Amino acid sequence: MPIIAPSLLAADFANLQGEVEAVARGGADWLHLDIMDGHFVPNLTIGPAVVAALRPHSQLVFDVHLMLSRPEDFILPFARAGADYISVHAEACTHLHRVLQQIREAGCRPAVALNPATPLSVLDHVLGEVEMILLMTVNPGFGGQEFIPAMLPKIASLAAKLRENRLDILLEVDGGINPETAAAACQAGAGVLVAGSAVFGCPDRGAAIRELRQAGKL
Ligand code: DX5
Ligand code: ZN
Repeated sequence: MPIIAPSLLAADFANLQGEVEAVARGGADWLHLDIMDGHFVPNLTIGPAVVAALRPHSQLVFDVHLMLSRPEDFILPFARAGADYISVHAEACTHLHRVLQQIREAGCRPAVALNPATPLSVLDHVLGEVEMILLMTVNPGFGGQEFIPAMLPKIASLAAKLRENRLDILLEVDGGINPETAAAACQAGAGVLVAGSAVFGCPDRGAAIRELRQAGKL
């Protein structure tokens, strides 16, 4: 069964607490929080204060996706705000290995995110430092984009590598996930599905979550 992580980016920002409670009631496993700085990506979202404000209202695993140019400056604030997983983009880190250690030292689970054009080889020397790899299946910055089909062989080749090396690392996909692409991504080896519009665009959040989980079942 895949882990389902609704992305708050597509939620009603005037009612974040209600939205988080709705996906929890609807059976979500995690909550995916997209943090954008208007620099690494051409959009702005929320900061640690909003994450901290939501934390007391939810028991969900908080999966914080940092789309920031200098993620190292914000590890501690997001750890204190209640992040469980923190993903940093390999493209944004001059010292990726060090940033991953900082995440662990801050008490969170370290993850690396890769843009669609970034090769898997950047992971070669940090696999011992991560608990999850986030493969972007759209170019980051906005919700509601279309899944890039060329990411399927990338997912499959990472999944094969993790299996061959017996690495207990989660493989998360993010962008354009709907029941159809969820099925393809899970067949290729994804274990965590992030979905924004597919969940929050559906009046019945629980039905959308169940449909994704069913589609991703192997
Ligand atoms: C994109 C974000 C995604 C986004 C996905 O930059 O990282 O998490 O919310 O949205 P959908 O599921 O609508 O593609
Ligand atoms: Zn994301």
